[in-house]
Amino acid sequence: MRQSRIKTLVVTILTLGAIILMTATSYSNDYKLNCGSVSAETSKASLTKPVLTAKLKKSSLKLNWTKAEGADEYKIYRSKKKNRKYKKLAELTSDTLTFSDRDFKGERKKYFYKVKAVSRSGESIEHIYSNTIKKTVYKRKSKVHGVTYIDGILIANKTYKLPKNYDPGTNKKAYKAFKKMQSDARKDGINLFIASGYRSYSYQKSLYNSYKARDGKEKADTYSARAGHSEHQTGLAFDINDPSSSFENTKEAKWLASNCTKYGFIIRYEKSKEKMTGYKYEPWHIRYLGKDLAKKVKKSGKCLEEYLGVKSEYKQR
Ligand code: DAL
Ligand code: ZN
Repeated sequence: MRQSRIKTLVVTILTLGAIILMTATSYSNDYKLNCGSVSAETSKASLTKPVLTAKLKKSSLKLNWTKAEGADEYKIYRSKKKNRKYKKLAELTSDTLTFSDRDFKGERKKYFYKVKAVSRSGESIEHIYSNTIKKTVYKRKSKVHGVTYIDGILIANKTYKLPKNYDPGTNKKAYKAFKKMQSDARKDGINLFIASGYRSYSYQKSLYNSYKARDGKEKADTYSARAGHSEHQTGLAFDINDPSSSFENTKEAKWLASNCTKYGFIIRYEKSKEKMTGYKYEPWHIRYLGKDLAKKVKKSGKCLEEYLGVKSEYKQR
């Protein structure tokens, strides 16, 4: 009787042990998303686990982790997918608890980072951090099909040229924003229309050449962009009503200057910014940036070149 009770007890303990072991094994391989972080232990080390967190910076991802007792070194890894190979990014000494991944590409929706604490005797313990990007991080300067973006903002000026074959046509969002602005302006008794919108490389070329023939190169460069350098080729810029000096101070020009940012536009070539933009004042030329950015740029009091920290100068005079 007593013997059979002991036997039952031993069987129960063994069964329970097996269940606990199986559960633990399945958890260690289950990296869940949306919960921020998941740990994966590779050995029963006497090390404590470093807990990894990440913070999005303007053009990098900063990793922080807690100190692992007994660690002599940390190894940092990154992967695109949870089950793919992890690429080693750095090996750091035990008192270094941060690492900035400057190659971090914010276009990716999900990211996986791993920190591994290693002791001198070779024991290791690791922690995987994964998260979903809520905001897009851009590299400061990037080129997509030959078009330059600074912090994700398309720039076309005397420094940054557009490719000959870049012909996106009128930008749909910009046009929709213009239509909304036009209909609201009408309610205020203001008539706005697009005098010139999207212009192809070749059209800009003939336009610039005709101004050059009329006024000479130096003067033409103060008010007309050379082919490939016009914002009109991006489909994001519109000349409103009358692209001439007589537009200045009209009630339409005043309305446009006071209201265009609400719709996502800026007056691109301001009077006080001629040296930086490279062009004379154009109260009729608006550039679409989207509402948030247009408001930020306007509030900063800077022209787009100043705001992005770039120049507008031709390489050749
Ligand atoms: N008038 C502006 C600068 C252009 O030609 O694009
Ligand atoms: Zn224009």
